[in-house]
Amino acid sequence: MVEPVLDVRNVSRRFGGLLAVSGVSMSVREGSITALIGPNGAGKTTLFSVISGFLKPSDGEVFYDGDDVTGAPSHKLARRGIGRTFQIVQPFAGLTVRENIRVGAYLRHRGRDAAIAAAEQVAREVGLEALLDTPADALTVAGRKRLELAKALATEPKLLLLDEVLAGLNPSEIRDIIPVIRSLRDRGVTILMIEHVMQAVMSLAEQVFVLAEGRLVAEGTPEEVAGNPIVIEAYLGHGAAARLARPAS
Ligand SMILES: Nc1ncnc2c1ncn2[C@@H]1O[C@H](COP(=O)(O)OP(=O)(O)OP(=O)(O)O)[C@@H](O)[C@H]1O
Ligand SMILES: [Mg+2]
Repeated sequence: MVEPVLDVRNVSRRFGGLLAVSGVSMSVREGSITALIGPNGAGKTTLFSVISGFLKPSDGEVFYDGDDVTGAPSHKLARRGIGRTFQIVQPFAGLTVRENIRVGAYLRHRGRDAAIAAAEQVAREVGLEALLDTPADALTVAGRKRLELAKALATEPKLLLLDEVLAGLNPSEIRDIIPVIRSLRDRGVTILMIEHVMQAVMSLAEQVFVLAEGRLVAEGTPEEVAGNPIVIEAYLGHGAAARLARPAS
């Protein structure tokens, strides 16, 4: 069997009295697009922060590329190839699109010119090439989402964690960005994406994990999880699956 690129083993994370992530185990196959879904507050972003080294787990281990990287700091994991986007996009407001992307490119490129060339290449890949000189704070929501993606890509990740990059986009903007994500996978980047837009999950992901109240409640193909009563209940509340199955009277 091929080793998964990411293997999360029994990870928990506590914030004071709140168990935000509780005993979660999941693995991500190299070269795949895997989705992590679940209602608000389920612990998805917290799990991303643990995987990418922004938070230490309270319990459990994270294996990446065959090594135990539990508790390693984010800059070390970035160097090893774990990139992430942030749910609350954080562009450097005073900088242009090119300068924002270049910050990430410095991880792999020492010289200024090499970093700029790499940044411009990434901008082309995400469709921001016409906006390279635009100040980041002048971008639309869709532009900011692309910039967030570009900043992470500029670190040349092997495993890319996307935290709701489609949130706030309209249907046509979503349609435009789905092929960009697919093409990243096609050139070998493994993608783990948190996503509420089910249309994107259904069309992109080969495997889906479902979190609710910190626990993994389901996993499977998009079709399997979409039809799973436990998943419907997690989103809509206890008894929802039965209510939906009953013909209206
Ligand atoms: N730094 C923190 N300190 C204390 N509590 C936190 C912290 N970060 C998250 N939480 C809590 O942990 C729980 C899980 O939050 P998290 O942001 O991981 O959920 P999520 O699944 O990403 O939700 P959403 O879909 O709304 O983004 C929530 O109850 C949240 O309030
Ligand atoms: Mg979140």
